[in-house]
Amino acid sequence: MQPTRRYSLCHIFTFTPGKQRNLFLLSATPRKKQKAPSLLSLGAQELAEYEKVAEHVKITQRDLEQDGFSKNPFFHGIIAEVPEQHKTKEGHTKIGYALYFYSYSSWSGRAVYMEDLYVMPEFRGKGIGKALMSKVAQLGLAAGCNQVNFTVLNWNKSSLDFYLSQGCYDVTTNMGYHCMRCEGEALEHLAQP
Ligand SMILES: CC(C)(COP(=O)(O)OP(=O)(O)OC[C@H]1O[C@@H](n2cnc3c(N)ncnc32)[C@H](O)[C@@H]1OP(=O)(O)O)[C@@H](O)C(=O)NCCC(=O)NCCS
Repeated sequence: MQPTRRYSLCHIFTFTPGKQRNLFLLSATPRKKQKAPSLLSLGAQELAEYEKVAEHVKITQRDLEQDGFSKNPFFHGIIAEVPEQHKTKEGHTKIGYALYFYSYSSWSGRAVYMEDLYVMPEFRGKGIGKALMSKVAQLGLAAGCNQVNFTVLNWNKSSLDFYLSQGCYDVTTNMGYHCMRCEGEALEHLAQP
């Protein structure tokens, strides 16, 4: 049976860096099968496929474990988990996640950067994306942040509309900012003394 209740459908929880237990919580399959993809690597891959940029995914589960669970983590995450009876056809109960980290604005101080927000297809439109983003906002405010930043692809109209429906605005349209990047050879070159 497909779940229909909104907001109370799933359990939203954060994972705490440095705690081995959280690797288990993140794992989409039992611990013994640690080689199987965790929700994060599975989700990151699914999100990239949805965004038609799957060829850019180079990260490994090991990278995610190191970077998210070390003493000084590079990112934090929030997981949405449904009860066993609502698991996906593939058997997943962890069906959505948000990945974020703290950043800083020299204009307005502490900020959160939400890198990923993802809900598996069969659970969309049930309040889970909103619940995940709400948790990011809640944790950000509690840490003294005053904005949540993120990007969305220009063709991803349904996600753009979702964000607009949550009171977010388009910084590129309103303020003219472009999202820039330096990587690969250009980055190596830039780093030369
Ligand atoms: C974007 C995404 C995270 C939204 O999650 P979701 O669980 O489907 O959305 P929710 O059910 O929580 O929607 C919550 C609210 O947003 C509104 N909303 C959702 N999609 C909307 C849309 N396309 N247009 C307008 N409003 C929308 C809902 O009506 C609801 O409003 P309400 O609380 O007033 O009733 C999810 O659809 C997803 O994973 N999409 C694919 C991946 C993706 O594009 N991620 C974002 C990358 S930038």
